[in-house]
Amino acid sequence: MFNIEAFATACQGKSDGAVKELLTEALRNPGEVKQALDAMGQAKPIGEGRMGDFVIHRSPDLTILRAAVPPKFKSPPHNHLMWAVIGVYEGQENNYFYRRGGEGLEAAGDRQLKPADVLVLGTDVIHAIENPLDHTLYAIHVYGGDLPAAPRRMWNPTTLQEEPFEYQTMMQYARQLMGKESQ
Ligand SMILES: [Fe+2]
Repeated sequence: MFNIEAFATACQGKSDGAVKELLTEALRNPGEVKQALDAMGQAKPIGEGRMGDFVIHRSPDLTILRAAVPPKFKSPPHNHLMWAVIGVYEGQENNYFYRRGGEGLEAAGDRQLKPADVLVLGTDVIHAIENPLDHTLYAIHVYGGDLPAAPRRMWNPTTLQEEPFEYQTMMQYARQLMGKESQ
């Protein structure tokens, strides 16, 4: 049976490549991971504040989140300033990659993640995520640092101008992208 505390302990001090192996191994049975993590709670609609992310572990060199992303959610482009390993255990997470260019950002590929898929993002990656389905996306996100403390950046999805990452503004952009608020 998957045990989240044992997983967090195993990730400590590891490289992104080693964490990818650990997460891939855990996700050989996505149903077991789901069963172990469902107890943490359900996602909330984005109109009600936070999305349902839970911090499983937070230390200076490691953050582990249980991400619960509402149906049809779209994030603005953002970075993390540290490596990230993402593993989906229910639903689908579409990743869209960008690089700095011209007046803002230019597209640099995409990748769709389904249950048991694991993706490593390098320190410099800029991405946006989307849940294309009409049910909640659940994933484990592991970061090689203290994610909440990082001075990371996001991009206004309309103007593509860079600005400091700020949670409430990010959610406002997400609602705009989902067509729930006029710009
Ligand atoms: Fe991200």
